[in-house]
Amino acid sequence: MPSRVLDGATATILPIHAQGLALRAAGTDLVRLDALTLAGRGPTMVMGPNGAGKSLLLRLLHGLIDPTEGRVLYGGQPMCARIRRRQAMVFQRPVVLRRSVAANIGFALQAHGVCRQERADRIRSLLEIGDLASKARQPARTLSGGEQQRLALLRAISTDPDILFLDEPTSSLDPTATHRIEAMILQAAEQGVKVVMVTHDIGQARRLGAEIVFLHRGRVVEQTSAASFFKQPSTQAARAFLAGALLL
Ligand SMILES: Nc1ncnc2c1ncn2[C@@H]1O[C@H](COP(=O)(O)OP(=O)(O)OP(=O)(O)O)[C@@H](O)[C@H]1O
Ligand SMILES: [Mg+2]
Repeated sequence: MPSRVLDGATATILPIHAQGLALRAAGTDLVRLDALTLAGRGPTMVMGPNGAGKSLLLRLLHGLIDPTEGRVLYGGQPMCARIRRRQAMVFQRPVVLRRSVAANIGFALQAHGVCRQERADRIRSLLEIGDLASKARQPARTLSGGEQQRLALLRAISTDPDILFLDEPTSSLDPTATHRIEAMILQAAEQGVKVVMVTHDIGQARRLGAEIVFLHRGRVVEQTSAASFFKQPSTQAARAFLAGALLL
């Protein structure tokens, strides 16, 4: 993992504050919350049943979609180019560019203004971290699904983000690939990256999560430490979810 000095920015973009956030479509609230603050250093795991609004919430928080109402502030500031450059997102289905494995990372670094020599060094060390060094010259689209997801995560952390949004990055991976991705996420979190991650995997949320944001029907119904969420969820919806018996 590179040192966290990429763009020399000093102003913090944490905490994330969502205020009066709503996303409506066809007269329905897909997401609605009065206030949500993500401030703690450890990973925030976003959980909830299918269709609860987790992916939409992540996209709203990352500024990929505009809310119908409300706003998101980063360290008190609205989204702008400087803040956008200090966030990254990994999607459930890996997005890789039609170029080599190494060039996928190189492209992101170049876009962030990293000079050629430093790019080469960073690509080398990242491919080592992701166990993809032997595939550096391979077209990225010929990688397996798990390898593509590892590459997507490497590309996301390559630019030294302050905030990393992850939408079910391991949902289609085998246990070994999942373990590798989890190790990379934990390493990033230990280096000070704020991880906000959607997962359906209760074991994974226990392994990685410091806090849990639990969504039901587009609303945050619980936000609490992972320890207390798993020991004693305070809502009926979360209890039913953990018991595998929550209906939408
Ligand atoms: N553009 C849209 N127009 C109308 N409804 C939408 C739109 N985008 C998403 N939805 C609906 O919003 C709800 C929440 O979607 P979202 O993708 O956030 O769910 P999720 O919690 O991520 O579910 P999953 O666990 O299946 O990934 C779903 O019912 C979905 O059908
Ligand atoms: Mg989703």
